[in-house]
Amino acid sequence: VTRSLRVGIAGLGRLGMRHAENLMQRIPEVELLAACSPVGTERAAAGALGVPRLHADYGGLLSDPYIDAVFLVTPTSLHADQIVAALEAGKHVFCEKPLALNLADCLRVEAAAAKRPDLVVMIGFVRRFDPSYRDAAARIAAGAIGRPYFVRSQTTDKNDPSGFFVKFAATSGGIFLDCTIHDIDLARWLLGAPTPVRAWASGTIALHEGLRQYGDVDNAVATVEFAGGQLATFFASRTLAHGQDTHTEVFGTAGSLAVGLGARLNRVDLCDERGQRHECTPDFFSRFYEAFQAEAQAFARAVLDRQPSPLPLADATEATRVAIAVTHAFRERRIVEVEGAR
Ligand SMILES: NC(=O)c1ccc[n+]([C@@H]2O[C@H](COP(=O)([O-])OP(=O)(O)OC[C@H]3O[C@@H](n4cnc5c(N)ncnc54)[C@H](O)[C@@H]3O)[C@@H](O)[C@H]2O)c1
Repeated sequence: VTRSLRVGIAGLGRLGMRHAENLMQRIPEVELLAACSPVGTERAAAGALGVPRLHADYGGLLSDPYIDAVFLVTPTSLHADQIVAALEAGKHVFCEKPLALNLADCLRVEAAAAKRPDLVVMIGFVRRFDPSYRDAAARIAAGAIGRPYFVRSQTTDKNDPSGFFVKFAATSGGIFLDCTIHDIDLARWLLGAPTPVRAWASGTIALHEGLRQYGDVDNAVATVEFAGGQLATFFASRTLAHGQDTHTEVFGTAGSLAVGLGARLNRVDLCDERGQRHECTPDFFSRFYEAFQAEAQAFARAVLDRQPSPLPLADATEATRVAIAVTHAFRERRIVEVEGAR
């Protein structure tokens, strides 16, 4: 008998429906049996996908006896409370990044998880499941570039003229907690989890004036120093003209490597009277399509095989700690000491 994990998903927005389609169609370890959204049209979309049990409120999903695990793809401001409630209801939890918007909430989730060591909790740092990032990490671990001392990493989206990000900014925690947190997690991973000590950041609004009311920006840079002397610099943008051009470079004492330089949709190069060019990946989902599947599969396998979470919760807390320090540096226009890092 093949065992499978019975999942309910909460949040069916921009990313939630993508996760729902994956869980329904591409993850053999999972049965997607329930979905939850306060929005009727979103529940109808999940129903049309074939999800049998639809809940209007999260409490209903948590008391659904058919569900062993929840997938949270809800606004970031809800993550901590929803994870704690799921653990108290005895459900395994996959939750989208970031874990929370403040450290007290991160630690509250860690405490709730510590009380239920029988349950898997995983925060979705999807890039750790991307085949190219995994290859880079394995090469660095094998010494291919010597001792890594500098990461330069960017998360840069194609401009979305619909204004989605202006509405989204109310609950996202701002560009550093929403976007740069991916690069922060990568830097910690690829540099061997050094202790962050100081952060500096700045930002600008290139296009979306509506962000100003939230104290947010659409382009931002940050630099973080680590205790061992390692450095990381980050760039986040929501306004690129050509597509989703996320990439990372790592410099070491015996070489360097890069992941994702020259972002491309596929291997077609077109040559014509205007020159030679290729198309760029249009959005994060097309760039990290395989990684989203591998991530869901890793979560399901950990639960089914009674293994620990593939991504320790403490890593999500530490990435949040750095993103918060960077956000303070940006808002207060000063260099911020990173306190309490593990
Ligand atoms: N890993 C990545 O690369 C990546 C990319 C995009 C978004 N995300 C994360 O995914 C999360 C969702 O982002 P999004 O872009 O899909 O946002 P979104 O605003 O499009 O979707 C949020 C969804 O949550 C639902 N919702 C709101 N309150 C709810 C509640 N109480 N119970 C259940 N559902 C509720 C909304 O109806 C909507 O379906 C965020 O935390 C974001 O950081 C991660």
